Parts: sequence; structure tokens; C-alpha cells
Amino acid sequence: MNNAQHFWNTMFANEEEYLYGTQPNAYIQMQTHRLKPNSRILCLAEGEGRNALHLAQLGHTISSIDASSVALQKQKRLLQSHGYTIDALHQDLEHWQPQPHAFDAIATSFMHLPKPLLSKVLQHSVVTLKSDALFIGEFFSIKQLGYSSGGPKDSQKLYTIEDFAHYQEGIEFIELKEEIVHLSEGKGHQGEASVIRVLFKKLG
Ligand SMILES: C[S@@+](CC[C@H](N)C(=O)[O-])C[C@H]1O[C@@H](n2cnc3c(N)ncnc32)[C@H](O)[C@@H]1O
Repeated sequence: MNNAQHFWNTMFANEEEYLYGTQPNAYIQMQTHRLKPNSRILCLAEGEGRNALHLAQLGHTISSIDASSVALQKQKRLLQSHGYTIDALHQDLEHWQPQPHAFDAIATSFMHLPKPLLSKVLQHSVVTLKSDALFIGEFFSIKQLGYSSGGPKDSQKLYTIEDFAHYQEGIEFIELKEEIVHLSEGKGHQGEASVIRVLFKKLG
């Protein structure tokens, strides 16, 4: 088990509690109107399953990837308790082998990876999306170091607009913005936060 897996298994260890709650991330929820009915959606670094549950409740078919075995157990339990199943893959994104043209959308919130890995995961995301498919993501910005509402304290895992903007090949940004929002997501994310909201479409 590597350090990230151990860290997140410990963070999610309380079986009675969902660290970021069971309601979906607000940005992902805000963008769901763009999804085609019965979409096949991949939730990256999905944690305890709150986004997966919301998307399943909207009628979509959900796959997920996360490095934490504890997170995956909680995802499965959360979805099953509402009558849904999830195809959950226990994997460090470092080793992700994307299936080409497989998904209608990717949804991810607060996937904080070292920048070289973020770069690889964004490239793999484009590979695994179908034409016209969407990437919907919310991340803490580097300015989050000045806030106490959650997120890593490691500048190598916090992002700028430029960390996303230089990807242009094969995609079109619909929205890419940094803003101050109010988070109310379990006990893990509470209060004012500086986030980057990323929405792009894979081109034909
Ligand atoms: C801040 S939590 C966010 C969880 C979820 N997306 C949410 O918003 O509720 C970060 C998640 O990223 C996962 N993660 C961190 N590094 C990872 C990696 N290298 N590969 C796969 N998952 C990773 C953790 O296990 C954890 O579930």
C-alpha cells in the first residue's frame, strides 16, 4: 500500500461517517443537465461515492476509480443502500489504462494528484471519453492555501487555471474558471474556498 492509499484509508476509516457527506458536489450537480439520458459515466477519485450516487439516481450507469480500498467499500455500500450498483475499480490512477471511447462523461471533485500525474490523468481522460463527451471537474486552486475549508496543504497538489488551460488538443473548453465558493460538504469541506471549475468537451 502506498502513502496516498494509507492516508485515504485512514481518512475514510469511520464507517458511520461520510467525510464529504452524501450529497453530490455542487458543481457536478449544476452540470448534470448537460448529460445525455442513460450516460455511461466514470467518476475519478470518487471517494465514498456521493457523486456516483447522485448520477446513478439520475439514471446513468456509473464506473469509478479510487486508490482507497476503504473508499470503494463505502461507495458500494452507499449505492447498494439506495438500490444501485457501481463498477468500482480499486486502482492508483498512476496505473490507469484508459479504455478508448468508453464514456459519455467523466465527473470528478477534489482529485488532488501531483501535477505530473494530473497531466497524465487528463490525457487519459480524453482517450476514454467518446466524441462530444464531457469532463466535469472541481478542484482546489493554489489560493486555497489561504483558506481553512479543506484540501491539501501541498502546493504540488493544488492547481492554477494554466494547469488545465494548456490542454487544447482534441478538446474544447466550455468553462474554465477560478472562483470563491462556499462549500458545505460533510465535515471535510466547510466554508469559503478557492476552486477551479473545469468543463470541457471532447471533439469529434
Ligand atoms: C478529497 S478526496 C475526494 C473524494 C470525492 N471525489 C469527493 O469529492 O467526495 C480525494 C480522493 O482521491 C483519491 N485519490 C488520491 N490519490 C489517488 C490516486 N493516485 N489514484 C486514485 N485515487 C486517488 C483518494 O483515495 C480520495 O478518495
